[in-house]
Amino acid sequence: MLSRAPSSSGGPRDVSDYGLNPEIFTRLGQYDAAFHAKALAELVKLAQEREIRPEDDPSPALNRMIDLPHPGLRSNALTLAGLWQATATGPQVLAVVKDETQPIEVRSAAFRALAELKLEPAGPLLASLAAGPHALPVRAAAIEALCALDIEAAARHAAELLPQAVATGLNPASILEAFLDRRGGGKALATALHASKMSPESASAVLQSLYETGRSDRDLVEVLRQSSGVTDDGPPYTESYVKQLVGDAMTQGNAQRGATLVEACIACHRIGKLGAVIGPDLTSIGTTLSPERIAEEVLWPGRQVKEGYTMLQVTTQDGVVHHGYERWTRQSEASGDLVMRQLTAESLITLRRDQIVSRQTLVSPMPVGLTAGMTQQQLLDMIRYVITLGTNTSTP
Ligand code: HEC
Repeated sequence: MLSRAPSSSGGPRDVSDYGLNPEIFTRLGQYDAAFHAKALAELVKLAQEREIRPEDDPSPALNRMIDLPHPGLRSNALTLAGLWQATATGPQVLAVVKDETQPIEVRSAAFRALAELKLEPAGPLLASLAAGPHALPVRAAAIEALCALDIEAAARHAAELLPQAVATGLNPASILEAFLDRRGGGKALATALHASKMSPESASAVLQSLYETGRSDRDLVEVLRQSSGVTDDGPPYTESYVKQLVGDAMTQGNAQRGATLVEACIACHRIGKLGAVIGPDLTSIGTTLSPERIAEEVLWPGRQVKEGYTMLQVTTQDGVVHHGYERWTRQSEASGDLVMRQLTAESLITLRRDQIVSRQTLVSPMPVGLTAGMTQQQLLDMIRYVITLGTNTSTP
């Protein structure tokens, strides 16, 4: 249905000719807002991944859509208002920010637009929305937006919110990402969390969410591990220890029990139908990697990093920190721009060479100390399970 979507050609002209024109989304005299919302989602991607913007001021068209009742359309239009710096949408953005009857997806898009457009009084307004008595999802969305304006204030509010979030089952991964996407964000949040003295239970729940984002920021991991009371890095690497561990896993480990212990792993790896794409697919890792190398990866992830998975952290002029794996395309080689595979998705983003302020190569995103909370028997069970994945002896 979206075969004519702007992503197929994707120049600035298409954006205004096609994506913002309601007639294109009108069938038999009936405007299809859901269809239009999908097209706007493509425009959001183009703006984020390739910095494509319309040539003419898109504000009037966006204002019309922000006024329509379809939540998906409204939130995508608000997101575009921020990304495209469509300043003439200001009054409408502010109205949605203040409207408590709006669904959370629409409001959080308005919060982000407010911050990106730097509308007065964005900072104080978001700070007040980040605190009680507002509902947790509203506070979370306000904190995420505030990260773009005042990272320290955002961190103080997050330190207060995070324990409440994990206690009520709200996954804090997107809050954590909002910090890690900003220059100095990991450090600011780590400092605020350190001062707030979280309970061990909250700290380990937040740590698990941090792993899910694939960005085991060193300062944050350190503070969270300390607060959770798990600080043991395990024994130093030796070849004989690895041999012994694999031997013990084969004689004393139970793969079926081990299968229930890989919850932390599927935050990043696919195993069968479950899991994510931050790390390589482990579904049949037992047939491609030796048991010793698998044990080594699990306990000392930084020792050998699989090709293509060295994490790059790139800061751009706007203060945004991008994480991903560098890829080389013919286009990027010609232009000198940087192409990265995003961590949590397989899609590519392009960062223009002149926008890049600094780049840093980190080791594997796979964190150390993943098995620190396990008993020796659990460790053997888990290793047994992973080294038999894809082999005939594996459990399905
Ligand atoms: C935060 C994300 C993350 C978590 C959590 C994680 N991994 Fe990884 N893992 C990676 C990444 C990225 C790589 C590739 C880079 C490298 O080799 O270190 C990797 C590599 C591996 C490899 C080597 C794969 C290959 O093809 O060479 C194994 C085996 C592995 N992980 C097992 C595990 C197990 C078992 C767990 C759970 C105890 C786990 N990982 C948890 C991100 C993660």
